[in-house]
Amino acid sequence: MRKVAVIGAGQVGSTTAMRVAERGIADVSLIDIYGDLARGKALDIAQALPLTDSSSRVEGGSDYGLAAGSDVVVITAGFPRAPGMSRSDLLEKNAAVVREVVEKACAAAPDAVLIMVTNPLDEMTHLAWKVTGWERRRVMGMAGLLDGSRLASFAAAELGVPPGQVQPVVLGSHGDAMLPLARLTSVAGVPLAEILSEGKLEELNARTRDGGAEIVSLLKQGSAYYAPSACVARMVRAVLMDEDMLVVASVRLEGEYGLDDVFLGVPVILGWGGWKRVVELPLHPEERVELEACAAMLRERAEMVDEWLSGNSA
Ligand code: APR
Repeated sequence: MRKVAVIGAGQVGSTTAMRVAERGIADVSLIDIYGDLARGKALDIAQALPLTDSSSRVEGGSDYGLAAGSDVVVITAGFPRAPGMSRSDLLEKNAAVVREVVEKACAAAPDAVLIMVTNPLDEMTHLAWKVTGWERRRVMGMAGLLDGSRLASFAAAELGVPPGQVQPVVLGSHGDAMLPLARLTSVAGVPLAEILSEGKLEELNARTRDGGAEIVSLLKQGSAYYAPSACVARMVRAVLMDEDMLVVASVRLEGEYGLDDVFLGVPVILGWGGWKRVVELPLHPEERVELEACAAMLRERAEMVDEWLSGNSA
């Protein structure tokens, strides 16, 4: 059986562990600074498996030895966004946690594919890549699949069609500079832009951009985890089954889309060993300009991460 280590046994981490284990995709190790929390959740998840025909084994604790030999490492450790808190506010708070857990998890699982979930996503993925020193295709952030899933869900509700009929395209950052592309989003092959008015499309785009914040403000405590964990589990499956799934993920660009030295959300082919290639969509000039602006902003934030890293070297 393949093995997945999930670091952070909070809401996103534990629901990810549950989804992977219940589908029998892999054995799961759930690791948290609070070992008993991880142990308790692992036991709880394991005790549901007799009902789901899964032979996955689930264990939990604070010891990174549990992650040894994992094929995929998922990082969810950190602090969720509080109401009114921007993703930038989260940056400094989560950088220290991410550096520590990535160092430990990757030492235990040196051949793994790493999927980052902790926010601010693109910046934390950049940090994780720096900390690992791994080749870029083994380190990616989960965001575009979630943002696309949100857009698909809103569009499906608007049109009265099943959400699975919507093929969303959302590029860019997981945050303010997100680029939902209604022009390339389709419903059973028909572009959304041909079915909905411009005003409605802008409404859906805006709600997608603010999708995380909408949930944060409703929950009052913590942030979204059902959809995020579903997206992570889907990406884990794509890697372990070598599916060559077309999925938008935050990856480091080195020339693709004319962009260099930046992590942002673009479509990639995802399978065993990580992402295999970036798929370059034919963007209109104004879309390209938006993507470039997003890249410039993320590059600046990545520089802040680099500064933080050099000022806080271990
Ligand atoms: N080492 C290990 N685990 C840690 C550490 C650490 N240094 N610091 C924090 N954690 C654990 C916490 O103990 C907690 O169990 O990370 C977990 C985070 O869980 P939650 O607070 O429930 O947060 P969650 O909703 O799961 O979100 C986690 O994912 O989507 C993003 O924005 C979200 O950055 C956030 C992350």
